[in-house]
Amino acid sequence: MKKIRAQTSGLTGEIMVPGDKSISHRSVMLSGLADTPVYIRNFLRGADCLSTIDCMRAMGVTVEEIGETELKVTGRGLYGLRAPSRVLDAGNSGTTLRLLLGLTAAQPFSVTFTGDKSLQKRPMGRVLKPLTAMGASFSSQEGRLPITVQGQTEPLQSIYYEMPVASAQVKSAILLAGLYASGDTVVTEPYPSRDHTERMLAAFGVPIMRHHNAVKVRPIGELMAPEDITVPGDISSAAYWLVAGSLIYGSNILLKNVGVNPTRSGILDVLKHMGANIDILNRHTESGEEVADIRVRRARLKGTTFGAGIMPRLIDEVPIIAVAAVFAHGDTIIEGAGELRVKETDRLVAIKNEFNKLSPGSVELKGDGLVIHGGLPLQRAECATYDDHRMAMALSIFGAAGDGVYLDRPDCVDISYPAFYETLKRLGR
Ligand code: S3P
Repeated sequence: MKKIRAQTSGLTGEIMVPGDKSISHRSVMLSGLADTPVYIRNFLRGADCLSTIDCMRAMGVTVEEIGETELKVTGRGLYGLRAPSRVLDAGNSGTTLRLLLGLTAAQPFSVTFTGDKSLQKRPMGRVLKPLTAMGASFSSQEGRLPITVQGQTEPLQSIYYEMPVASAQVKSAILLAGLYASGDTVVTEPYPSRDHTERMLAAFGVPIMRHHNAVKVRPIGELMAPEDITVPGDISSAAYWLVAGSLIYGSNILLKNVGVNPTRSGILDVLKHMGANIDILNRHTESGEEVADIRVRRARLKGTTFGAGIMPRLIDEVPIIAVAAVFAHGDTIIEGAGELRVKETDRLVAIKNEFNKLSPGSVELKGDGLVIHGGLPLQRAECATYDDHRMAMALSIFGAAGDGVYLDRPDCVDISYPAFYETLKRLGR
């Protein structure tokens, strides 16, 4: 049980949040398909991204860890990956698995994937369906792990695919498979999800066209890799400090070098709407991604309403936004959040169960959303993390801003933010 104490003074100082998880995964995958070495800076050394490194190494890619957060990846070219001699383990990482299903769908060799208990429960049919339509072939039981991708003897067919749910993982799997298709592949989504794959493919010389919610990828013979990639700080990790800084009296935090790609920055819009005191400074572009410093100071927040349209832009931030809502004045209504049910755990249920321990009666589940009553009394309690990194961090900030919390199984933060507890301690002094 880990104890997070109630903060009696503000959180102050500067933070370099770790590298973006989504971009870190993609940087290793695409570099692995390049013919020239790529240096990746500010790579996230979290467990999920290490799973991606492990899988790419098993297919013959050389990944050298130069410093704490720098990698040199020597790829094998678009057509040079080798058959792995073992099962590929994606661990807890949906991104590793779904994107690599797309990448391996077109390879001439077979690959079998597995993953941890949580990943075994998550739906993969949403990726297998379009990839099968492209001619790929899989064996699995009802689309769950373990999944074997059969080696291909023919190029994949290009498709036009309308995704029923907005998901960057599904979109990316199709785009990666589309690199190997016989013609242009087009994918559309109901609302725009994160576009890191599109941006990075473009940076590797791949023709990518975008029109409203549609993306088209045109296959090419080889990638033209950049010499280096600098991964921006992860806004999903910055999110915990944005909320902590907003809630805890006397706080003043400067978050340096945070990725503010508009397909990821929904939390900034929601928090500003709630009345947060957030300044975006020093905006610039690095490796094709928008980056900025963000200053947050304590503010009095009010409830808000948001739904399906913005959901893909803040999907991983809902647990921490829900914390902000518990401390806000008035009610917050969150709709169209059904995708939270198929994350590392059912986050809608986890939020309801655990938040109500810390502020009884504060959270109601309503359909695929939540109604959160702000400003109710707070208490200390023992909470479960469900081995879900985002639940662990959201509950920690809840405890720090409230009356403290005891966390069962706190170590899952290693998935995306290994230094999270250390940083909380440092800022709180
Ligand atoms: C991710 C996409 C999102 C997000 C996940 C990372 C990505 O998942 O929740 O943490 O890197 O593409 P979905 O595509 O399933 O919404």
